[in-house]
Amino acid sequence: MVAARITVNGKEAPLTPAPPHTTALDFLRERGLTGTKEGCAEGECGACSVLVARPGVDKPTDWVAVNACLVPAAALDGQEVVTSEGLATAGAPGTPATLHPVQQEMAVRGGSQCGYCTPGFVCSMAAEYYRPDRCAHTESGGSTDSADGTDSYDSTDAEHGPNGFDLHALSGNLCRCTGYRPIRDAAYAVGTPTDDDPLARRREQSPPAPVATEYIQDDSAYLRRSTLAETLRLLRERPDAVVVAGSTDWGVEVNIRSRRADCVVGIDRLPELRELRVESGHIEIGAALTLTEIERRLDGGVPLLAELFPQFASRLIRNGATLGGNLGTGSPIGDSPPALLALEASVVLADADGEREVPLADYFTGYRQSVRRPGELIRSVRIPLPLSPVVAFHKIAKRRFDDISSVAVAYALDIEDGIVRKARIGLGGVAATPIRSRATEAALEGKPWSTQTVEGAAREMRGEGTPMSDHRASSLYRSAMLGQSLLKLYAQTTEAVPS
Ligand SMILES: Cc1cc2nc3c(=O)[nH]c(=O)nc-3n(C[C@H](O)[C@H](O)[C@H](O)COP(=O)(O)OP(=O)(O)OC[C@H]3O[C@@H](n4cnc5c(N)ncnc54)[C@H](O)[C@@H]3O)c2cc1C
Ligand code: FES
Ligand code: FES
Repeated sequence: MVAARITVNGKEAPLTPAPPHTTALDFLRERGLTGTKEGCAEGECGACSVLVARPGVDKPTDWVAVNACLVPAAALDGQEVVTSEGLATAGAPGTPATLHPVQQEMAVRGGSQCGYCTPGFVCSMAAEYYRPDRCAHTESGGSTDSADGTDSYDSTDAEHGPNGFDLHALSGNLCRCTGYRPIRDAAYAVGTPTDDDPLARRREQSPPAPVATEYIQDDSAYLRRSTLAETLRLLRERPDAVVVAGSTDWGVEVNIRSRRADCVVGIDRLPELRELRVESGHIEIGAALTLTEIERRLDGGVPLLAELFPQFASRLIRNGATLGGNLGTGSPIGDSPPALLALEASVVLADADGEREVPLADYFTGYRQSVRRPGELIRSVRIPLPLSPVVAFHKIAKRRFDDISSVAVAYALDIEDGIVRKARIGLGGVAATPIRSRATEAALEGKPWSTQTVEGAAREMRGEGTPMSDHRASSLYRSAMLGQSLLKLYAQTTEAVPS
């Protein structure tokens, strides 16, 4: 096993002697790359954003922006990272560097005042700059580089620039002093990468292959095996090990709650956990695919998930977060369980003895508890086909983006000839576990999809679960939101507003 090392801005940097829980943020700053900033250390501000070369969806490599404060540096062993310092091109000795196009636009359009957030914004912006389908949009006619970017907005879509720039790429970046309009101006003014742009050219080759890692310092270890079978054997030998995928939950535990596991096992690059297949009777989604990868690869093929993803955290978090991790936490306020319950999904669990499939409705057994045994991993999520046509995901939270749900409701209904043939409704935030809204489902099935049915079912729905009062919402509010959500769905599907 070779010593752990990361390629940063084109140069290899050894990980030693950092302890295994060291975040990529601390690792980079220790090496003098202090453009990468710490704002919150919990994935909320994006000041720590860096680019990582990952398997691409439309090209061999995508430049993906992630929160360096959440990722263990050891998880990047053998990988390629670019920081804000690596975006600019060094000049000859004694001459200044040439700014990267996104840095240039931020500078000339006043996108930076104190500058604390700027390197993070620039990395998120660069990831979007290199997104292949954005570039295709621009090449097919989107205008760019107007003298004043503000004049060239496509007013029909407030969240996309005329250059195809998706503002959601910046949804995980906060700026406390500049104000967002100049930052948006900069984003909407960037053009397409030129042919000699090194990071654009880098997309044409595969990203570095995952490497097996055995990084041990003092008494703690970060371990990564090459195959699922080897990983499952390791988990049998080390039942104390903490499994980590995107580490968007685990990074918070390390930074904010000072959790220090003796043994962390990385599973995010395991090929067996990164497959997405459409079979005749179901769709199988690997537990270690990131939400961004699933979103782009399904490309709207599961409309309920397509509605969920933009409401899940920020692009930076979705670039790391996995479905396995969202189910693995067992959190009652995770956003994917209500949707997966409505889709009647099951989870495939694997350990060294084999695999078993468990319906998600039977998976959660109590607050942050599940039927998953020690040494068992979630290998994949299976969504049965065909899909119900009427779907919606209602996330009730204090902010529109990048917030935790107070209540989440997911619907998958079959309505034929005005009759509800089948209703599946998943709820989050109203009990110790995510639950199916069974009384409401029963109140809808076999009935006309009418104001009268929906008002009766909404009364049932207000009584579902055992909602608590906490700092996010009171129990009364949560119950009220359940009923309102069904009325909203009815209004959305019929444009009739029940009383
Ligand atoms: C700023 C911020 C915003 C967030 N917003 C949201 C949000 O809007 N909605 C939401 O639902 N969540 C949100 N989260 C929580 C988090 O991003 C999700 O739970 C995410 O899906 C976790 O995936 P991960 O791969 O990063 O998990 P990790 O952090 O890698 O792991 C989380 C847990 O799951 C276990 N685990 C991981 N993979 C597996 C597997 N394959 N099998 C068994 N166990 C496994 C790990 O052991 C660990 O206990 C947010 C987090 C942050 C930091
Ligand atoms: S430091 Fe705030 S997201 Fe990483
Ligand atoms: S420029 Fe000061 S925080 Fe954004």
